[in-house]
Amino acid sequence: MDSNLATPLASQAYQHACRQAGQSPDTFWLSEAGRVAWIRQPTTGVSKDADGGDRWFADGQLNTAWLALDAQIEAGRGEQVALIYDSPVTATIQRFTYAELTAQVAETAGALAGLGVGKGDRVVLYMPMVPEAVIGMLACARLGAIHSVVFGGFAARELAIRIDDARPRVILSASCGIEVDRVIPYKPLLDAALDQASHRPDATLILQRPQARAELQPGRDHDWHARVAAAAPAAPVPVQATDPLYILYTSGTTGKPKGVVRDNGGHAVAMHYSMEVVYGMKPGEVFWAASDVGWVVGHSYIVYAPLIYGCTTVLYEGKPVRTPDAGAFWRVIEEHKVNALFTAPTAFRAVRKEDPDGALLGRYDISSLKRLFLAGERLDPPTYQWLKDLTGLPVLDHWWQTETGWAIACNPVGIETMVEKPGSATAPTPGFQVHILDLNGQACAPNEQGAVCIQRPLPPGCLAGIWGDAGRCHQSYFASYDGYYLSGDGGYIDDDGYLFIMGRTDDVINVAGHRLSTGEMEEIVASHPQVAECAVFGIDDQLKGQLPLGLVVLKDGCKQAPEEITRELVAMVREQVGAVACFRRAVIVKRLPKTRSGKILRRVLRQIANGEEYAVPSTIDDPGILSEIGERLTLY
Ligand code: COA
Ligand code: AMP
Repeated sequence: MDSNLATPLASQAYQHACRQAGQSPDTFWLSEAGRVAWIRQPTTGVSKDADGGDRWFADGQLNTAWLALDAQIEAGRGEQVALIYDSPVTATIQRFTYAELTAQVAETAGALAGLGVGKGDRVVLYMPMVPEAVIGMLACARLGAIHSVVFGGFAARELAIRIDDARPRVILSASCGIEVDRVIPYKPLLDAALDQASHRPDATLILQRPQARAELQPGRDHDWHARVAAAAPAAPVPVQATDPLYILYTSGTTGKPKGVVRDNGGHAVAMHYSMEVVYGMKPGEVFWAASDVGWVVGHSYIVYAPLIYGCTTVLYEGKPVRTPDAGAFWRVIEEHKVNALFTAPTAFRAVRKEDPDGALLGRYDISSLKRLFLAGERLDPPTYQWLKDLTGLPVLDHWWQTETGWAIACNPVGIETMVEKPGSATAPTPGFQVHILDLNGQACAPNEQGAVCIQRPLPPGCLAGIWGDAGRCHQSYFASYDGYYLSGDGGYIDDDGYLFIMGRTDDVINVAGHRLSTGEMEEIVASHPQVAECAVFGIDDQLKGQLPLGLVVLKDGCKQAPEEITRELVAMVREQVGAVACFRRAVIVKRLPKTRSGKILRRVLRQIANGEEYAVPSTIDDPGILSEIGERLTLY
């Protein structure tokens, strides 16, 4: 360890911030709230909503888009570049100053208002990584409308589920996305989703890209550019701090995704605070989150936080590899003088696979880069070490979730940089009181693994509910341990105060940094007419972290060829969830291992599939089945 740097327990400045935020949360966060521009400054810290949830700054009033744009112009950043669009797949680089972005957002908000969108209305976005996606989100925020972005890699059925839950007045989409060199038409997917959904939006606004033209349905579909060109700019609409800014659907343990609701005020304060404390940024610097606007990382760190903090943000429509090669990230850093890069470990595992010695890095000057941030899945020590050796930079793992919207644990470089421990996300961010609890709700000893929980109240910016389902919110997150938020991750804290997140304790898996529900895939596989029962679970994968694997029991007397059935199952999941699910393996077995009470033993299945040692559970109804499955899996 570097003796000049502190550890969490030994760091005085960090411990002081944690104590202040933990012991006097109202004082601490009202003081942070004073650092962003409000229409009406809040005087209330945390209070309870009608469902018993913790809500921040209830009497505050603001407009998030105004804060992210107009307020920056007022602070003298009008001519500073706000957004850099870098698209190797279309050979485009485009820069928008704060003044230009503000004007485009105001005009797009005008076009939305012209389609009847107002405060509290929902707008679904199904967009590739183009500036209009960012502009569309901010335009909703300007009107006080609630956006819900659906990741472009999801299939029509997923989009339909979200449309029916959010019930949008308008949908924003584009004619196509581009995956490396493949043009993916989006409009047929949107049309199919609208056919499947029972909710009917009033209108859609479609961005026509030159790579593919979309058929527009008269009366329902409108051309984006034409409507925006004809619109008058709309003024920002004041909203309460507790009003929703967006809904972002994320995978839970069932087939129905959870619509995580984010508020305006707490979110703005958390975004601002995190840019300083978690990322150590200064206004005017260049921040690049190499993610997608369809994920929470994109919401928080491509769009909102960098702009609210006065930085320049990079929107990258490309991959870490193949666009055109594994030097892509280094090229973007050099070209835009990026000061901090944030991506998922899987992206660097892909780079490392193609350029293990970093030969491509040698072609670029990345001296602007101060730190590398990784999240979305566990940063495995080999990838950490490779990045460290290659760049010599701080390589900082941090842990968070769609629900929290920002880092629960990080190396708080804006307060005090701590010595890095591979495999650990370092320490709870001030404001997050993290506890490791055992099954009885008792605190675990240092190094003892348990459920990672956060003591209430959660700090500003965290989930303000599940859209339209307060009961599910309580049940999923707050019912297991009284007074705590259940993260769904398992982990431990070591003797120095370092937090290690070891993986999900539920049916959520993480494939290439994408959060997916095995329960949902199971529902799809089980719907095949020849399938009697099935289990889908995550197995380790060197590149993507995890991949789903399905074990399938066929109905008695099934005459269809097994290979044909497995092909159909793979196609069904791709068709219904999307290519991102990466469900490529289904294995037919005679039976599934179960407890005597009929529960499938998924943990043992995972261990067998990963080739790990496993203990035969005493509750199993038929132990012989395990070796049978092991043999079956080795054949694949
Ligand atoms: N629209 C349409 N299809 C998409 C898509 C999108 N936005 N994103 C991914 N897909 C498709 C891919 O084309 C691929 O299709 P295929 O099976 O026909 O080849 C499939 O979904 C799987 O995609 P992905 O898991 O991304 O695999 P990949 O091989 O294309 O790329 C990585 C692998 C590691 C380079 C890539 O996953 C990556 O960059 N990951 C970073 C993850 C990330 O940003 N996570 C966000 C949290 S920080
Ligand atoms: P998402 O909601 O898509 O951001 O996924 C959140 C989940 O990803 C968490 O619950 C973790 O399981 C996992 N995750 C995110 N960041 C990390 C990290 N730094 N270390 C370990 N797991 C992580």
